[in-house]
Amino acid sequence: MADNRQITQATRAIWSGEKDRTMWEGCTQVPVVHSVSFGYQDIDVWQDVALEKTEGHIYSRNTNPTVQVFEDKVRELEGAESAVSFSSGMAAISNTLFTLLAPGDRIVSIKDTYGGTNKIFVEFLPKFNIDVDLCTTSDHEEMEAAIAKGCKIVYLETPTNPTVKITDIERITKAAHEVGALVIADNTFATPINQTPLSLGVDLVLHSASKFLGGHADALGGIVCGNDRDLIKKIYHFREINGASLAPMDAYSLLRGMKTLALRVEKQNQSALKIARYLQGHPKVDGVFYPGLESHKHHDIAKKQMKGFGGMLAFSVVGGFDAIRVFLPKLKYAHMAANLGCVETVVGPPAVTSHVECSREERAAMGIPEGLVRYSTGIEDVDDLIADLAQALEYIIDD
Ligand SMILES: Cc1ncc(COP(=O)(O)O)c(C=O)c1O
Repeated sequence: MADNRQITQATRAIWSGEKDRTMWEGCTQVPVVHSVSFGYQDIDVWQDVALEKTEGHIYSRNTNPTVQVFEDKVRELEGAESAVSFSSGMAAISNTLFTLLAPGDRIVSIKDTYGGTNKIFVEFLPKFNIDVDLCTTSDHEEMEAAIAKGCKIVYLETPTNPTVKITDIERITKAAHEVGALVIADNTFATPINQTPLSLGVDLVLHSASKFLGGHADALGGIVCGNDRDLIKKIYHFREINGASLAPMDAYSLLRGMKTLALRVEKQNQSALKIARYLQGHPKVDGVFYPGLESHKHHDIAKKQMKGFGGMLAFSVVGGFDAIRVFLPKLKYAHMAANLGCVETVVGPPAVTSHVECSREERAAMGIPEGLVRYSTGIEDVDDLIADLAQALEYIIDD
């Protein structure tokens, strides 16, 4: 009997990219191939591989067997035809944008993208005479109007960092395709367990693999996936010459982390929702941002396009930044660090992490209160995390 059953993301996270192990000499785990170059006994075979007539590897800045397994795994999780990896998430974002944009082009995005992405938009692209139009995040009408003026690329990130704002991917993609623009989505916060933007029409999906994909905060990496092989080939070509390739050891660490991607993310989804609900009723907390809460402005859109609401939430405490100074160091089970998406809970105020370079006024204009805490839920027992928050919040003294 034919087996037409589709495997799920949990099985893909473990097996994708690892099915053909003829080259691994029976290893059940993907070996780390550190070799910079690959030798040949026959000039004609070597030339065929170099000309891409035959599969094989020449030089690890271009392709590498360990790195290729990582690309295949994420590619299958995102439901893509093709993928190319990078040394970091920022390398994925910058290489993709610089491959696709040329002087005179226009790009439409949102104000709340990750700080590094925003720097590319406001500091680097304008130097190349590229017009950047950053719309109010989640204002779909404003985005549609900006797109209708014509643009080459629409760049999305949903949920956003740090206030987990949501953009309707299908709606904005439709508007972008009407003017012939390509849509790129940063899926770092959601992960392919919770959201697969390509299935919603997006052209390219990218990740900082350093976050949830790897999950252990011990390897940097980035990846771009898409269904148009020629488009990915162009980005690959830019990267092979530009040189921002993923290192084999990092690819291995990311692969090892990804085996538990589904387990981790499902747990983080559940814990973050429970923590967000707990914080909502706390007297020392005056705002909770989480797309899984019914009170979130775009909860309905999140419900439509996400399978789970993710491990990231943000909340503001009464007493602003002074209160944060007292409260955060009292948490026993959270790193105070500029990172997210790992097995340990990580906390940080945007005023010190993602938005440190903005002034107080700029943060206020972006809807980021000074007392905001970005909370990346780990996989600790959720009741232990809630008890930890409860004891630490006690240290905030009301005026
Ligand atoms: C949403 C998002 N995209 C991209 C990046 C950049 O990734 P990397 O630090 O791997 O360069 C980050 C980093 O925090 C991020 O949060």
